Amino acid sequence: MLGFRLERVQRGYITGIVTRILKHIREQASLQLGQEVTQATLGRPVKFRSSIGPDGGLQAIAILTEAALAAGFEKVDFLHEPSAAAVGYHTSSATAHHALIVDIGGGTTDIALAEVGTEDTQPHILSTWGEPKGGTDVDLGLSLRSVMPLFGKGVCPELLAPVFMDAASVSDLNRQKSFRDRRFIHTPLPYASRLAELQKPGIPVRLNRDVEKLKIELSKTARSERSLSYIEPSLVAQATDTHLASGAESFMRSFEQLLAQVSKEIQEYTPVLFLTGGMSRAPYVIEAVKQAFPRCDIVPSEASLGVVDGLSVYASLTQDVRYP
Ligand SMILES: Nc1ncnc2c1ncn2[C@@H]1O[C@H](COP(=O)(O)OP(=O)(O)OP(=O)(O)O)[C@@H](O)[C@H]1O
Ligand SMILES: [Mg+2]
Repeated sequence: MLGFRLERVQRGYITGIVTRILKHIREQASLQLGQEVTQATLGRPVKFRSSIGPDGGLQAIAILTEAALAAGFEKVDFLHEPSAAAVGYHTSSATAHHALIVDIGGGTTDIALAEVGTEDTQPHILSTWGEPKGGTDVDLGLSLRSVMPLFGKGVCPELLAPVFMDAASVSDLNRQKSFRDRRFIHTPLPYASRLAELQKPGIPVRLNRDVEKLKIELSKTARSERSLSYIEPSLVAQATDTHLASGAESFMRSFEQLLAQVSKEIQEYTPVLFLTGGMSRAPYVIEAVKQAFPRCDIVPSEASLGVVDGLSVYASLTQDVRYP
């Protein structure tokens, strides 16, 4: 959300939410360490998701900085997330070698080529790449394929595609507002009443969470389903691997293009592959990485902790740390 067009009031709310999150983290860290924590290293994607071009990235950094200061941090710095993962991997590498860090998260896909395992305290980052696309793009695609038909998509000719794009794009506040402002007086039942339920506060996000769960289950099984009883008693969303394949198509196309570009640019290296980020649990994502780098080995890594591990190591190396 941080890189999307925000009106002044929306920006105020979002800054407030980020402030509360950072304040909670600062207070918990201070309690655990027995001293006031006043400095922070924040991970950031190489390229933020944005609806306003490069200004979105600047806005995101401005909001994060403002929120961190309001949360009581006095000094804040930022580190690209894949570079952070490289810092973490560096500390566990016994011999010097090259690693390609691929971090596929919910919002963005970030890559870094690093030389790790040297005697230096930090890895040598040779290059970074970023694409502001991630798991939420697969959620959106899956929602349009498997769930939005329950709300009339492809069934009611008067309901055009933007209605469903707006409804399913939960991180774009302007699209959400445009969905909430629509009236469905010519739409037949049961779609009109389902859409009316979906217009209630918080319901698009709840539906989106269910779509995300369908996607996660489809990493393991060919078919999954979730109850949508909060829309209508006994309404069930069903999704199959076919829905997933077509819903993920657009994300996978840009992911494969990014991998192909990286592979071309690093031809002289045969790095190990360090995969992290929640989407690195998806078998189709792992397969695409293997296809793009057939000569490279994948090293064991942690999908949830790759980046934060590295951020904490980096903070301990660069921030003014005093141990009690
Ligand atoms: N088993 C799985 N199969 C498919 N997707 C998964 C799986 N587990 C998690 N995900 C997806 O991974 C994404 C979250 O990954 P992660 O926690 O790394 O994101 P993030 O760090 O919050 O986002 P970003 O790095 O883009 O800012 C979500 O889209 C989630 O649905
Ligand atoms: Mg991440």
